[in-house]
Amino acid sequence: MLNKREHFFESKVAVITGASSGIGKALAFDLTESGCKVVMVARHRKNLEEIAAEMYTEKTMVLPADVTDYTEVSSMVDQVIKEWGRIDILINCAGTFKAGGLVSLPLETMHETMEVNYKGTVNCVKASLPYMVEQGSGSIVLLSSLAGRLAFPGCSAYGASKFALYGFANIVRPELKKHGIHMMAVYPSFVDSPLVEGHIERVKKSFFFRISRDFSPQKVSRAIMKGLIKKKREMVLPPTLGWAAAIYGLCPRPVEYFIGKFHGGWPDPLE
Ligand SMILES: NC(=O)c1ccc[n+]([C@@H]2O[C@H](COP(=O)([O-])OP(=O)(O)OC[C@H]3O[C@@H](n4cnc5c(N)ncnc54)[C@H](OP(=O)(O)O)[C@@H]3O)[C@@H](O)[C@H]2O)c1
Repeated sequence: MLNKREHFFESKVAVITGASSGIGKALAFDLTESGCKVVMVARHRKNLEEIAAEMYTEKTMVLPADVTDYTEVSSMVDQVIKEWGRIDILINCAGTFKAGGLVSLPLETMHETMEVNYKGTVNCVKASLPYMVEQGSGSIVLLSSLAGRLAFPGCSAYGASKFALYGFANIVRPELKKHGIHMMAVYPSFVDSPLVEGHIERVKKSFFFRISRDFSPQKVSRAIMKGLIKKKREMVLPPTLGWAAAIYGLCPRPVEYFIGKFHGGWPDPLE
């Protein structure tokens, strides 16, 4: 696996958003190690620079940008093209997670979640796409979530933004294919990262947590790299949970009941 992986990624230019933490950070390390030139994007420059310094390589570029701001995203992409001439892989990891009942969750939080998770991803795809089309190649990875395939309690903001990515991926995939561009959507269950800090007690009650509790950012990173090599359309992680997404698509009611029962119950909207 390692040799094939090294060969596949050698000298490719990969842009990773959310590269300062969790899954994006693990990907930055793994892709650099596999020979990629890696552009690391997040809002806080200091965090990115500390990670880049740990890598001891010239093959990384730190370009802070807020994915919700198209002007910042567009100038980040222009900078990549100016320095390295192309974008082979775009991995959209930038994300935010806030849980709560529908009434208690502030409207601003619901809008902000959509801005970062959905619109931020669309901004990065739109800014990079003209260059991939010109190249006639490229891979785009969207980090959705199992909460973008199944209805989870307390996830009205987060889940809706991730379901939006599910729809976006399915709709644009055939368009991109015409230009030789591969689109892969990733649907992880719980991953041990700073994103879920502060929610861990609630999350621990979940049946899905018990199945995926050993799923680290490193495991997600390696799965994404394998998916890129195999040009996979989508991946549920861990793969053992693929059945849950499939059954929910066919008969949502019993799955909703099951999730409510084993996920600590559906919240009162006021909670
Ligand atoms: N952890 C899980 O259980 C889990 C499960 C399923 C799916 N996912 C998805 O996987 C992705 C990565 O999650 P993670 O667990 O690695 O999260 P994480 O550790 O919290 O990292 C989030 C990253 O996004 C960046 N970010 C946040 N807002 C941004 C913005 N407006 N512009 C640019 N960068 C921004 C953060 O850096 P700055 O704060 O410096 O900007 C950070 O680098 C997310 O989309 C998440 O929804 C995670």
